[in-house]
Amino acid sequence: MLGGSRPHRATTARLAALHPLAGSSPLAVRSTYIGRDLFGASFGFDPFALYAAGLLSNPNVVVAGQIGRGKSSLIKSFLWRQASLGRGAWVIDPKGEYSALADAAGCRCVRLGSDESASINLLEPASGGAEEIPLAVSAVAHLAEAAMKRDLRPTERAALEIAVGRTARGRNPGLSALSAALLSPLAEDAEGAGTDPAGLARDGRELALQIRMLASGEIGRVLEAPAGKSLDLGARLVVLDLSALHGTEHLGLVMGALLAWMGARQRHMAPMKRYVVLDEAWAVLSEPAVARWAQVSWKLARAYGVSNIAVVHRMSDLASVGQPASVQNAWAKGLLSDSETRVVFAQSPGEAEASRSLLGIGVNEAALLPSLGSGVALWKLGTRSFLVRHRLGTKEAALVDTDQAMRGWP
Ligand SMILES: Nc1ncnc2c1ncn2[C@@H]1O[C@H](COP(=O)(O)OP(=O)(O)OP(=O)(O)O)[C@@H](O)[C@H]1O
Ligand SMILES: [Mg+2]
Repeated sequence: MLGGSRPHRATTARLAALHPLAGSSPLAVRSTYIGRDLFGASFGFDPFALYAAGLLSNPNVVVAGQIGRGKSSLIKSFLWRQASLGRGAWVIDPKGEYSALADAAGCRCVRLGSDESASINLLEPASGGAEEIPLAVSAVAHLAEAAMKRDLRPTERAALEIAVGRTARGRNPGLSALSAALLSPLAEDAEGAGTDPAGLARDGRELALQIRMLASGEIGRVLEAPAGKSLDLGARLVVLDLSALHGTEHLGLVMGALLAWMGARQRHMAPMKRYVVLDEAWAVLSEPAVARWAQVSWKLARAYGVSNIAVVHRMSDLASVGQPASVQNAWAKGLLSDSETRVVFAQSPGEAEASRSLLGIGVNEAALLPSLGSGVALWKLGTRSFLVRHRLGTKEAALVDTDQAMRGWP
């Protein structure tokens, strides 16, 4: 115990064990400036450089914090600064707040569902390769299961596999064509499934009608791009604005399908170190397709040269996804364990205490979290801790401002 009248001497290593922030030194790798740490030293971050230096074992990041504390601002300014190093980013933007960043970077912000070029085609293979059929099957299956609120029966799954294969090879791949293929199977397809065309049509009928309904509604506007017209993911910064669906029951459904589609394309993109940002992840992780994508994507990050960034309000958002023993819950917790960088803005006292074991932080660090001011976060990089005030440049301040509505009107 420290205390009493006699001075206490200890090595900095011991002091660090008592209070991790006291023992942290700036990381000796080239990185992108973030701001100032507790001791006034400049603090920078670059998950790719830290990984290359052996200081992180994975490049993924979770950002947590109460509303309005600066989570999205940190990401926007970080992407802006990293762009100068040639780093790319795909941003899933449920609130429609990254367009200023896209404009400043000379890139297009795509408002999904607004026109034909702002949609995707789940049934169109990225490379024409047969290995992509199973990816399309699972994307459509997730979509249908979420809409029907039940798992597909084995007979439906078999009918879907056959119909997706046929539709993806056809001239006008898409959800409407898929629905038609399910309703009118060919004799040779039925034979392969051990039934006749009428039997196969019966197996797939409910699924076909569900898919037709999805294709003709709001979801179809996002997921029914004409062949060859799917949105282009090739730009350095791609912002996918989903605000048209924000707050609707469709957000999770569309996002699950979109992420599956992006995941399939990722492997065919020109090599580039890239961030994949899921802002407001807390709102969609309970969607099985999103949680599943996150799990796979977080695991494959190193293989693809990608750093995934998920934004939540509380760490316990991740622990409370799905039922306690459910697969989704395990996926969401896995996402946290596969994110060696955790950036934690202010938390309520109860949440700070509750997230101690999830974050791997001690009593002293947890006690700091409720009093952190706006823009200040505890950065956990593996076992190292830093308390950092994020500094915005003048130009950046305009890119990150989400408070206009609070100031602008009478
Ligand atoms: N480091 C900073 N310095 C100065 N102002 C900041 C800083 N970070 C954020 N702000 C301001 O705080 C406001 C809220 O920030 P931001 O939108 O990033 O919060 P958030 O945590 O993402 O909120 P939400 O949970 O609602 O998405 C913005 O208008 C932004 O201009
Ligand atoms: Mg935000």
